[in-house]
Amino acid sequence: MRLEGKAAIITGAGSGIGRATTVLFAKEGASVAAVDVSKEGLDATLELASAGPGKAIALQGDASKESDVESAVGQSVDHFGRIDIAFANAGIGAYIEEGGKQRLAIGMESSVEQFRQVLDVNLVGPYILMKYSLPHMSKQRTASFIMTASVAGIRGNAGVVAYGASKGGVIAMANSMAFGVYGTGVRVNAICPGLIETGMYSSADRKRETGADGGSLNPLRRVGDPSEIASVALFLATDDSSYINGQAVPVCGGLTGGLPQSPGEGQS
Ligand SMILES: NC(=O)c1ccc[n+]([C@@H]2O[C@H](COP(=O)([O-])OP(=O)(O)OC[C@H]3O[C@@H](n4cnc5c(N)ncnc54)[C@H](O)[C@@H]3O)[C@@H](O)[C@H]2O)c1
Repeated sequence: MRLEGKAAIITGAGSGIGRATTVLFAKEGASVAAVDVSKEGLDATLELASAGPGKAIALQGDASKESDVESAVGQSVDHFGRIDIAFANAGIGAYIEEGGKQRLAIGMESSVEQFRQVLDVNLVGPYILMKYSLPHMSKQRTASFIMTASVAGIRGNAGVVAYGASKGGVIAMANSMAFGVYGTGVRVNAICPGLIETGMYSSADRKRETGADGGSLNPLRRVGDPSEIASVALFLATDDSSYINGQAVPVCGGLTGGLPQSPGEGQS
């Protein structure tokens, strides 16, 4: 077990990437405080994580609300006595209604209020978690603070302006926070997932609408699975990544390795 004796706090743990990471960390022996706005989501995650051997607890709360995060960190420390790993993963997109369905807002489609809300959850949220967890994390010899950014914070092809701006901010925050926590023994990194099959992105829905899914533009010709992000979170959480600090790690099947081009273009 690679996380035996360690304690973690994970936001957005009620679905997708946060759920997969909670389950993997518990499997590796960690005590995990799983935070989400959704009680149903947390219940389902805890059931999966109950296979252990690590122990998981559910803490319902809003990752963008300072009082909720302060309370979640406090409860987490009350339960487990320490924090070694914090994974600021909760995130949202800006959506608009079209033809009775919701889709991600492109360009100027999101309202100013939506733009602020996306920044609040995706960018300010990780900052708040850092603020309250760092005093506990810096008591450990080594500790790891991980954030979920996105390929949308590196490249703009998808046109999702509010979301891209928030994730670009997360990447910049990982760069500067590594220096901001200078000398504390805490490493700060971000993961930049490509398209991952979660509550946020369903390739099945996309395929029904257009006949294609997000995998068609990917060199691996598929979207990713949440477990493929969880395994990178595990790597960043352990001393296997002991000299990786202040970085944004793309986990995208190769999507960010190229420039936009139609598949097959330029090939004979
Ligand atoms: N799925 C993708 O293709 C993809 C790609 C790049 C980055 N990401 C990022 O990965 C992270 C996890 O998303 P996911 O894909 O697992 O989506 P998801 O929708 O399956 O999970 C997100 C979880 O976050 C929770 N959440 C949302 N707002 C919250 C808040 N204010 N406080 C607490 N919890 C909140 C939701 O209830 C949900 O359980 C997000 O930061 C997202 O931006 C996802």
